[in-house]
Amino acid sequence: MDPISTEKRTILTGDRTSGPLHLGHYVGSLKNRVKLQETYRQFLLLADTQALTDNAHDPERVRRNVLEVALDYLAVGIDPEKTTICVQSALPALAELTMLYLNFVTVARLERNPTIKDEIHARGFGRDIPAGFLCYPVAQAADITAFKATLVPVGEDQAPLIEQTNEIVRRINNQIGRNVLVEAEALIPRFGRLPGIDGKAKMSKSQGNAILLSAEAAAIREAVHRMYTDPKHLCASDPGTVEGNVVFTYLDAFDENEADVAELKARYRRGGLGDMAVKRRLEAILLLLAPIRERRAVYARKPEYLLDVLREGTKKARTITDLTLAELQSGLKLFMLD
Ligand code: TRP
Repeated sequence: MDPISTEKRTILTGDRTSGPLHLGHYVGSLKNRVKLQETYRQFLLLADTQALTDNAHDPERVRRNVLEVALDYLAVGIDPEKTTICVQSALPALAELTMLYLNFVTVARLERNPTIKDEIHARGFGRDIPAGFLCYPVAQAADITAFKATLVPVGEDQAPLIEQTNEIVRRINNQIGRNVLVEAEALIPRFGRLPGIDGKAKMSKSQGNAILLSAEAAAIREAVHRMYTDPKHLCASDPGTVEGNVVFTYLDAFDENEADVAELKARYRRGGLGDMAVKRRLEAILLLLAPIRERRAVYARKPEYLLDVLREGTKKARTITDLTLAELQSGLKLFMLD
């Protein structure tokens, strides 16, 4: 058998440390990562350097959330024995690779990147775009290639970033004359994105439409009560609309009993089913989040353990990323002072 095919593929993914993670992260990525760690060699990056690209006005927030996101990882079942968790800012090779790669990308190409275009708009930067923000796809290419990752689980909105990464990979390999870097493939989750409780496309803490993984039972209940339904469905006896109705979107995501959910949808459409009755069914979220919240509290009481996990993971990642940088420096025949 081909020895390569039996080797585990490498996955790299991560999160900006700009806030604690929420239910949307759980559905869109965390749940999947817990599964992926069983069969792949997985690295998770606490992307504090990238978080600064749109949070330079609040570095304290970025610092504080490194440990919060790490706690979220452990709480959902990321196992440090199986997944390497590392801190981006403590991996200097990533910054050096970014500087190197910036010479292989044009400003015009960065400005054309659809992900960046949308994000610039969403953040209201107008013409005052921080250069670090415009260039973060290059830094993300550095992250991915430094680990020689071939699989990158990201939301659909981030797929153009993988395209851009592969362009850089081809340019650099071409310059060197052999394939030192490897191309990566986006792994897009099947259940796309969980909307916010207000019905907006994206759940986000800053929009106030999120349910945090650390949320207490009372806060979860309150969020479910506030959830956007069908604004025209005023009486239980009225026929209601299921499409775009957040409560049903969430039931599709969290209620395992598909037959029951289908039956509820039919009754809601016909009329005769009140919003409160459907919302009660979303108690499933309470059951899902209770053990996560409890595990999170346990780890929060062991900060030394948490820091050890990050130290170990980052040390391992440093060896790997330093090696890739050295390979490129020698491949490109750069001056190296020893
Ligand atoms: N861009 C990701 C986010 O917004 C974080 C991230 C940084 C990342 N580096 C990465 C994701 C590399 C995948 C691969 O949270």
